[in-house]
Amino acid sequence: MSNHDEFNHLIGEVKMTSLKGKDILHGSQFSKRDVEGMVRIASDFEKELKKKDSLTLLKGKILATLFFEPSTRTRLSFETAMQRLGGGVISMASAEGSSAAKGETVGDTARTVSQYADVIVIRHPRIGSAEEAADAASIPVVNAGDGAGQHPTQALLDIYTIRKELGSLKNLVVSMVGDLKNGRTVHALVELLSLYQARLYFVSPGNLRMPEEITSRLKQKGIRIEETEDLERAASESALIYVTRIQKERFTDLTEYERVKGSYVINGEFLKKLKKKITILHPLPRVDEISSDVDTYPGAAYFRQVRNGVFVRMALLAMIFGKR
Ligand code: CP
Repeated sequence: MSNHDEFNHLIGEVKMTSLKGKDILHGSQFSKRDVEGMVRIASDFEKELKKKDSLTLLKGKILATLFFEPSTRTRLSFETAMQRLGGGVISMASAEGSSAAKGETVGDTARTVSQYADVIVIRHPRIGSAEEAADAASIPVVNAGDGAGQHPTQALLDIYTIRKELGSLKNLVVSMVGDLKNGRTVHALVELLSLYQARLYFVSPGNLRMPEEITSRLKQKGIRIEETEDLERAASESALIYVTRIQKERFTDLTEYERVKGSYVINGEFLKKLKKKITILHPLPRVDEISSDVDTYPGAAYFRQVRNGVFVRMALLAMIFGKR
């Protein structure tokens, strides 16, 4: 199949969305139409990859990954996605190996990499850094996590996974559990869940609650939320629990981290007490918040979630490049 033919059966979907040439910075930027277009395109790619190893849709295009903070899934799945689409990848896997170590700014790095690549995927420990890169770059920039800010592409793959696991995005009741203060994945995911009027439980220790700025915006949109420390009660009312790691790297006081770590642990005993099947997602990496005895539980979807990241990031890249 030629490049053009391969693209044609997806172009109707790509055209319906508004992401062509856009920076991807925040979960709130997506419309329901964007999300639904992404789900259909990702699902097409998932089917295509059952028939062949790679496509030629983005042949000749180059993706640059700029990772100033550690990553396994986000960087490798973006690089896999681009290569499965026939494109090339250049990668900066750590700040230490780049001129950031000599004091180069994020903006200058992004401006420089714009001369080499066609799209930038950036992760950085500072909130707002992806936006700074986008302002300086002359090519689209994708936020792959800016400190405790946002992680919009994780939210897209979470939505894709929820739809696959539960069959629908309607009438969702979701418990988000753990470090809701610093968890950029949950900050982005609530934006997408709010498009579907999901009912949300925010389960966290008192000092790791969802930021007030986010809860008040959700309330303004009419989203039903309840903040609680009682995981069992929230989970018993939910179809899905989205578990997050307590983000040690965001604590300035490690004694405070020691005090709250292990606050919530999903294990076989907890699931037995629930007396119903529940779907469990986690953006990973996990530390001790989901014990390994849960991995064989039918609702444990977190490694299927990892795999979906490739299809969703393929869809997102196709949408950003749009029709040539
Ligand atoms: N989910 C996620 O962002 O994982 P990584 O930190 O490994 O990229």
